Amino acid sequence: MNPAPAQLAAPATGAADPSAPTDGGLRIQAVSYGYRGRRGALPAVDRVSFDVPRGGMGVLVGPSGCGKSTLLRLVAGLLEPDTGSIDVGGVTPARLRAQRRAGFAFQDPGLLSWRTVRRNIELPFDLAGLPKDRAWTDHLLEITGLTEWADRRPRELSGGMRQRVALARALATRPEVLLLDEPFGALDEITRSDLNLELLRILSDTGTTCLLVTHSVDEAVLLADVVVVLGRRPCAVRAVLDVPQPRSQRRAARDTPEFSARCRAVREELEAGR
Ligand SMILES: Nc1ncnc2c1ncn2[C@@H]1O[C@H](COP(=O)(O)OP(=O)(O)O)[C@@H](O)[C@H]1O
Ligand SMILES: [Mg+2]
Repeated sequence: MNPAPAQLAAPATGAADPSAPTDGGLRIQAVSYGYRGRRGALPAVDRVSFDVPRGGMGVLVGPSGCGKSTLLRLVAGLLEPDTGSIDVGGVTPARLRAQRRAGFAFQDPGLLSWRTVRRNIELPFDLAGLPKDRAWTDHLLEITGLTEWADRRPRELSGGMRQRVALARALATRPEVLLLDEPFGALDEITRSDLNLELLRILSDTGTTCLLVTHSVDEAVLLADVVVVLGRRPCAVRAVLDVPQPRSQRRAARDTPEFSARCRAVREELEAGR
């Protein structure tokens, strides 16, 4: 994709190169979507194309109301594109949804107060009437650092811990893709920064491809393999920035000139697109 790390690639306006190899990641090709209401159509997404490699992290940044959440809903199979196509590890979002292989978490963790941490994580199985996988829940509790809290109720947890429960629950059905809509937006800076690095570790552990929306440019550059900068509604891709850096180096990389340069490049593109 991008040869030079701090440079932004021009957006792909039409379909991405169909001959490019798909590695089982996420491929969005020329996707457009408009909401239809009584007062006519409201275009929200305009010919968006980008790829996220398998097991990688794509981060969407763009002005409020530009269509970021709409894009996540399209990938989740909750909405269907008017034109264009989405491929997640070789399957369509509709199929993915039917197989419960898209995991979702939002800014509000949305936990059930009367259920324990363990039973909140297992909720997707109960909703689907599927048998629980206790060993997998144990593993999720462990990688999210919640083992000791498995039998507690959400009110006994901090905000960061509740967000980790929401993450574990989103991973419960071993999703092909994890969709995170401003998941850490309500947390304080320190908790958020810790959770960001924890998220990378958790994703490396499960190998899950992730698409995350954030308002924070620093968070985007810290987390992403691919930052997708979107313009005003209906959102088109303004630029794509590859961050070719191993996850193990992300913590240290925050204090480097390259990190600042990448943040500046994204910020400038965002400001130009307002
Ligand atoms: N269910 C809906 N029906 C009609 N319009 C919607 C609906 N959801 C979102 N929109 C509109 O689509 C646009 C994009 O919304 P959204 O994807 O939520 O933006 P973002 O997440 O970037 O803030 C906004 O103008 C919003 O008002
Ligand atoms: Mg949104």
